[in-house]
Amino acid sequence: MPLVTSTEMFKKAYEGQYAIGAFNVNNMEIIQGIVDAAKLENSPLILQVSAGARKYAKHIYLMKLVEAAVEDTGLPICLHLDHGEDFEICKSCVDGGFTSVMIDGSKHSFEDNIELTKRVVDYAHNKGVVVEAELGKLAGVEDSIKVAAKDATYTDPDQAVEFVERTGVDSLAIAIGTSHGAYKFKGKPELDFARLEKISNLLPNFPLVLHGASTVLPEFVALCNEYGGKLDGAQGVPEDMLLQAGKFGVCKINIDTDLRLAMTASVRKYLANNPADFDPRQYLKPARQAIQDMVSHKIRNVLNSSNRL
Ligand code: G3H
Ligand code: 13P
Ligand code: ZN
Repeated sequence: MPLVTSTEMFKKAYEGQYAIGAFNVNNMEIIQGIVDAAKLENSPLILQVSAGARKYAKHIYLMKLVEAAVEDTGLPICLHLDHGEDFEICKSCVDGGFTSVMIDGSKHSFEDNIELTKRVVDYAHNKGVVVEAELGKLAGVEDSIKVAAKDATYTDPDQAVEFVERTGVDSLAIAIGTSHGAYKFKGKPELDFARLEKISNLLPNFPLVLHGASTVLPEFVALCNEYGGKLDGAQGVPEDMLLQAGKFGVCKINIDTDLRLAMTASVRKYLANNPADFDPRQYLKPARQAIQDMVSHKIRNVLNSSNRL
């Protein structure tokens, strides 16, 4: 089974009103934890790689690890570039074997975002690769880019229609109140569901994407803090809101922070309890299991994508 695009996954997810998890990967243990969970849950899956991940692990290593995961599990996996900031990185991932790329032109003007996205769409489609774009601006941190809450802009529904029509993009990330990282809300968590419903009604049968969708489960924050972490005030998107989003055309839900928290809490705990150990396998094994448990939890309780293969 080769890598697949997200086209069929999204079609089924849209019809079934569930979402596909898109999990960020940076190394072997993260990849193994995620794919083992998807295999056990019989769930479709997107693995996504950021520019930072490519810099950390190198494109070729991540590519080969994901190919190994496909061979090992037999799962139909989509390999996606997360937040490509320019044409060159998208081209490099298309040429380098990814089946999906995101061109994130959200920091540009509407017209420049359209022009850039269209250029990537033309190139990628010609090679059988699908494209996600972003309209509106999320708050939070990704790579070195930090967007303050006051600079975040929610997606305009009418512009979303025009954007999709003029670019021919395959899916669209929208801003409705989620944000990247572990500190998403200062007070009560709120998403603009009225806006989501409007966008979804104006774009029937079109897959929407939710970034910044980690839940930041309090037990993992507590576990990190118990073993020396400093994550006071961390707060994510409640699980019921994410499940609800799946009913309004959201077919892809991006999760990175929750995997980082699960892995780091596990490593912190292991090392605190076993100060004499220095074999990386001893602390990476439970960390990999923590990733697997977290992904299984997401598939069952947030994505509703178990047994959809
Ligand atoms: O949205 C960003 C993802 O969490 C990836 O984070 O750019 O630090 O790899 P990164
Ligand atoms: P979180 O930081 O909420 O996990 O979001 C990840 C993301 O959107 C990756 O593109
Ligand atoms: Zn994102």
